[in-house]
Amino acid sequence: MSSDDAWSTPSNEALLLSLVAPTATGSKTVSHSFHPKFTYPIFGDSEEIFGYKDLEINLRYNASDMRPNLSVSYSKKFPAVGETEATDITGILRDFLPEVAFQKKSEFETAIKNLRADWTPPGELDTTFTSHGNTFEVWKGNLADAAVKQLVTRLQILVPLFIEGGSAIDVEDPDADRWTIFFLYQKKAAAGDANSNPYVFAGYSTVYRFFHFRPPTPPLSPSSEADLEKATLAQDFDLSQLPCRTRISQFMIIQPFQGKGLGPRLYNHIFQTYIDHPQTVEITVEDPNEAFDDLRDIADLQYLRQLPEFRALRINTAVTIPKTGPAPNNIVDKAACDAVRAKAKIAPRQFARVLEMHLMSQLP
Ligand code: ACO
Repeated sequence: MSSDDAWSTPSNEALLLSLVAPTATGSKTVSHSFHPKFTYPIFGDSEEIFGYKDLEINLRYNASDMRPNLSVSYSKKFPAVGETEATDITGILRDFLPEVAFQKKSEFETAIKNLRADWTPPGELDTTFTSHGNTFEVWKGNLADAAVKQLVTRLQILVPLFIEGGSAIDVEDPDADRWTIFFLYQKKAAAGDANSNPYVFAGYSTVYRFFHFRPPTPPLSPSSEADLEKATLAQDFDLSQLPCRTRISQFMIIQPFQGKGLGPRLYNHIFQTYIDHPQTVEITVEDPNEAFDDLRDIADLQYLRQLPEFRALRINTAVTIPKTGPAPNNIVDKAACDAVRAKAKIAPRQFARVLEMHLMSQLP
């Protein structure tokens, strides 16, 4: 072991996240604590932090409003020698956490104790369901709402920590109203304690709408989509009425709530929301990872199999399929496929994938 190793700590182990709730004397963890999956976007490719012994980085979140609080402790710090000095942990984390995370622990404890017991998540209650005997609520809001923006800002560090290659959204987006946020909360039974809030944060998803801009009348010969957008906006359109593509941007169930089928429940709710949204012509997903692809494939297949016109799609056995090269595009009735796809608002590649799964499962 080199002397550097003796002062190095794997950052995935050093960082511990927890959800806490206020008590009369301080706070207590409400669900088990958990480590991040990735820390390289924050602490560098080696995922090592230099310069400390017995290093612990605690990122505690108030379970309801997700107010974060950072605390860093260690038994020894490497004395600065020339250019070699201990990693500036707090300095690095300032780029990923809002200012409120750096308050003193006592200020955090006071703030969470003073949060009203009747606090509810931001936005509006969108749906309620039960899972394994627990009650969950989905709250839906817009990034233009200050309370929604505050919560989304507090959550953004979870993206590099849990989604490989995931990126934070720009909470200062001037088009904030194009962002819809779905928050998933467990709602516990009232504990009978005046200070205790029943909400425990479980996950969230950010959804962005891209508008399909139509050339204005008379046409202004716009040279680019941006010009077209400007010209359209200049016409004072009601944006909420324009046809749009709706893209799921970030989707996360936090670790203590994973593996309980909550991801599929939240996805199905979001999907149904935009099936019912007349302006949405297509529902897409930004850079899904493998775990999300699996969830989405099963959910989309379940949805499509409820549609009689999807169930009616059959392989055209009269078509000869070559042994090599691409399959001919008339294996399945193209017009019928396009009609189901448009109705289900599923993007072409995802539809083709799910259709293939369906047809393969039908083969004798
Ligand atoms: N209806 C009912 N059950 C379903 C459905 C459905 N439509 N789809 C899947 N299931 C079942 C499956 O049987 C599966 O069970 P199994 O794993 O025992 O076979 C299970 O539900 C799948 O769901 P969960 O494992 O419970 O899913 P979870 O709630 O953990 O959510 C997710 C999965 C979103 C990947 C979550 O683990 C997570 O957030 N991970 C970290 C962040 C992440 O990777 N996010 C996605 C990034 S991509 C993006 O952001 C666009």
